[in-house]
Amino acid sequence: MAEHQTVFEVQDGSVAFGGNQALSSVSFAMEKGQLVGLIGPNGSGKTTLLNATSGIYPLDAGSIRFEGRPIEKAPPHAIARAGIARTFQIARIFPRMTALENMLTPGFTTRDAGAEDRVTLIRRAKEYLDFVDIADFAHEQAADLSGGQRMLLQFARALMLKPRLMLLDEPFGGIHPLLVERILGRIRDLRDQGIDFIVVSHDLPAIMGLATRIVVLANGRLIADGTPEAVREDPGVIEAYLGG
Ligand SMILES: Nc1ncnc2c1ncn2[C@@H]1O[C@H](COP(=O)(O)OP(=O)(O)OP(=O)(O)O)[C@@H](O)[C@H]1O
Ligand SMILES: [Mg+2]
Repeated sequence: MAEHQTVFEVQDGSVAFGGNQALSSVSFAMEKGQLVGLIGPNGSGKTTLLNATSGIYPLDAGSIRFEGRPIEKAPPHAIARAGIARTFQIARIFPRMTALENMLTPGFTTRDAGAEDRVTLIRRAKEYLDFVDIADFAHEQAADLSGGQRMLLQFARALMLKPRLMLLDEPFGGIHPLLVERILGRIRDLRDQGIDFIVVSHDLPAIMGLATRIVVLANGRLIADGTPEAVREDPGVIEAYLGG
């Protein structure tokens, strides 16, 4: 019998900012090997769910489990070390550092856990820059990279943590179509190597083509969860997008 291993599970997750209920009792569980696309209109709570998962703005109520262990009260560095890495909607890189220096930033590498020496880290950093095809820019200031290249740098840096689950927030937003294709390709490569993904995107063609499962938020609530085909036809989803 095939074993269904739950990698990630949020149960009744809620987050409020003042009187604004950004996330309202959201629940879903994700099995190993699924590639989840998280979609929904602006302000629907997508980033809030990623922020809660990565410990930046913890849940007010509810629970989050990663590989069976509760993480909803853990701080960001502990969650990163546990195996969850993320990228941000607006690339959080250090513009005055080179691409390679960005890769080696404390807090983003396994060195913080005392796991690897600097020589090994530098070798891995170069491998990942090569993996996303920006090795030629290793010694360029990050400020000189295009928006798409910064997204690739963020993505490569997330790999320094050797994550088992990656949370990507709008990895295709406002970047050149060729780089969108490159990121899609790398996500598929990593998925084939056993890394699980939750990808937030407004690029519906890209995310529908990539994800095996689509979870839809609207006004902080989960309104649909299913295959890309099913979700595309869902009247509630169409209404949420068109109804503003
Ligand atoms: N740090 C914060 N402080 C106050 N309100 C916040 C904060 N983060 C999010 N919100 C509010 O929570 C709600 C959900 O926001 P969130 O950023 O999660 O939406 P989103 O689905 O990621 O939207 P977008 O597609 O525009 O990125 C919004 O009403 C937003 O204004
Ligand atoms: Mg967002």
